[in-house]
Amino acid sequence: MSQSSQPQSTTAPPGPGRPPTFAEAKNRRQKVRAAGLDPNYWYPVLQSRELGRGEVKEVVFWRRSYALYRGDDGKVAAVENRCAHRQLKLSVGHVKGCNVVCPYHGWEYDREGHLAHVPHDLFGKKMPNIKLGHQPVVERYGLVWVFFGDPARAGERAIPTIPELEGADAWGHVIADFEWRAHHSMIIDNVSDFTHAYLHRKFRPFEDATLKKLETVGDRVYVSYDTKVGRGPISGLFVDRDKVNTNAMDLCYEYPYQWSNTDDKIKHYCFVLPIDEQTTRAFFLFYFKAFKVPGLPIGLPRWAMDPLLRIAKHTLVGPLLQEDGDAVEAEQEGYNEHWQAPIAELNPAVHEFQALTIRKWEEYLASVSERELVKLEARRA
Ligand code: FES
Ligand SMILES: [Fe+2]
Repeated sequence: MSQSSQPQSTTAPPGPGRPPTFAEAKNRRQKVRAAGLDPNYWYPVLQSRELGRGEVKEVVFWRRSYALYRGDDGKVAAVENRCAHRQLKLSVGHVKGCNVVCPYHGWEYDREGHLAHVPHDLFGKKMPNIKLGHQPVVERYGLVWVFFGDPARAGERAIPTIPELEGADAWGHVIADFEWRAHHSMIIDNVSDFTHAYLHRKFRPFEDATLKKLETVGDRVYVSYDTKVGRGPISGLFVDRDKVNTNAMDLCYEYPYQWSNTDDKIKHYCFVLPIDEQTTRAFFLFYFKAFKVPGLPIGLPRWAMDPLLRIAKHTLVGPLLQEDGDAVEAEQEGYNEHWQAPIAELNPAVHEFQALTIRKWEEYLASVSERELVKLEARRA
């Protein structure tokens, strides 16, 4: 490959072991597999129950690390994950009241990243005026959401609204999340592309899919399939086929989220947290209007749905999604080795998902300063 035609890059030229960067990419697949996601959206980072009062954990968005902690008052904060003194990660420290404390010399930072306390001799100097970066945090639907973009823009974007999960009549729901060694676009391709029924021939979540609609409107790609939904032995017990049309499904890649809808009675969201080019955390939130009692013509009481779904998470949902995880991790390995191979993609929906991800990343890159671009590239190197 001619080096003179390569865009300037601070990293080594691509080789068999390193797929191209976004700037180096020559075709749509290479571009999408190197694209990030616009940080100016809300992204889930953890399930709320994973972060107790007084706990601190590291969360990463596109190689930017944050110390996520829950203070004694129950509120969650996301502070740049480095102590300004000697750059230790604050996530290896601990929480004191509503502050996070570095474990080395005990420097203490508040939720906004201000250095709030230094517990040792200041040698006659004034307390250093230090402020780390911090990001807006909200908890909703059992998830902790962080806005990783410009904090001043957080109000411009909304967390997806899910009225079915609010109020006294909230639907039954379950959340399953995974960290997979795969690029986020591989997961978006996977969840809305029903040509992979073969992978799930044991659980049979969808079969015989025919693409009926494919439409891109702004930042959304709408897809509809005629397909047999949930024909596996376990889901068939609880889904009342007399009341739910399980012969079709609508899906959407609503950048940067993905959702599905089966007859307004079974829905799901998939949220991806891009950690780096080859690591993604995926959150799947499934919600159901009703279940039937197996073998009887009556509905399962609403209170019994969540416990049942927790069981289903271990027996059905988790193992089914793990099949997808295994597939996308294997796809990533294959891509790392064969990124130069010709594209052989049949489903036009996949082309649309990828085009949207690429366009949004190009728009984001065009919106940031030269300084930010250098920082992005440096983090990759
Ligand atoms: S390195 Fe954090 S307090 Fe010294
Ligand atoms: Fe799948």
